[in-house]
Amino acid sequence: MNILVTYSSGYGSTREVSETIAEVLNSESNFNVQVLSVDDVESLSSFDAVIIGGSVRADKPLANIRDFFARFRNELLQIKLALFVVCLSANNEEGREKVKRDYVQPLLEKYPTIKPISMEAFGGKIDFDRLNPVMKSLMKKVLEKTGLPSTGSIDTRDWPFITSWAKDVKSRLKEN
Ligand SMILES: Cc1cc2nc3c(=O)[nH]c(=O)nc-3n(C[C@H](O)[C@H](O)[C@H](O)COP(=O)(O)O)c2cc1C
Repeated sequence: MNILVTYSSGYGSTREVSETIAEVLNSESNFNVQVLSVDDVESLSSFDAVIIGGSVRADKPLANIRDFFARFRNELLQIKLALFVVCLSANNEEGREKVKRDYVQPLLEKYPTIKPISMEAFGGKIDFDRLNPVMKSLMKKVLEKTGLPSTGSIDTRDWPFITSWAKDVKSRLKEN
């Protein structure tokens, strides 16, 4: 089975999550897994399944994830799809449910015939020293809602949770 893990990642944390998911899937001997940025995907015709991951900016998945759905809306009907987002609000169970409901569901509602086999939200990572002043002030507003500190570097990615989701996706892909 040919599987694409594709991501949209401004600062690299979603790319690292994608690479971990790809490693888990690659442990299946008949899975052939490729990892690509969404911007480098030209066609889905050689894939049987696609795992799409994107980070969040100002309460929305990054624009190129939304573009990806628009571009491949027909192809995504033919193959299996799993979806994840990475963001700071998803750093606990309640946050994950809110992120799925408020950030991801509106995107999926635009394409009601596309039915993902799985969808999840993961905690993200931010390094304040890498942000310009505009991004910093945007982030402060986000962090007021999460209760996380707004200086230094915060990494809320829960690797055992991410790995366990990837294993579940692997089982679902093997099912049919
Ligand atoms: C400008 C900016 C806006 C953000 N807005 C949100 C937001 O609305 N909600 C949220 O939960 N996280 C938000 N985040 C946090 C990112 O989603 C998180 O840091 C993620 O891990 C970044 O992924 P990346 O390294 O792949 O770009 C924001 C980050 C930045 C830099």
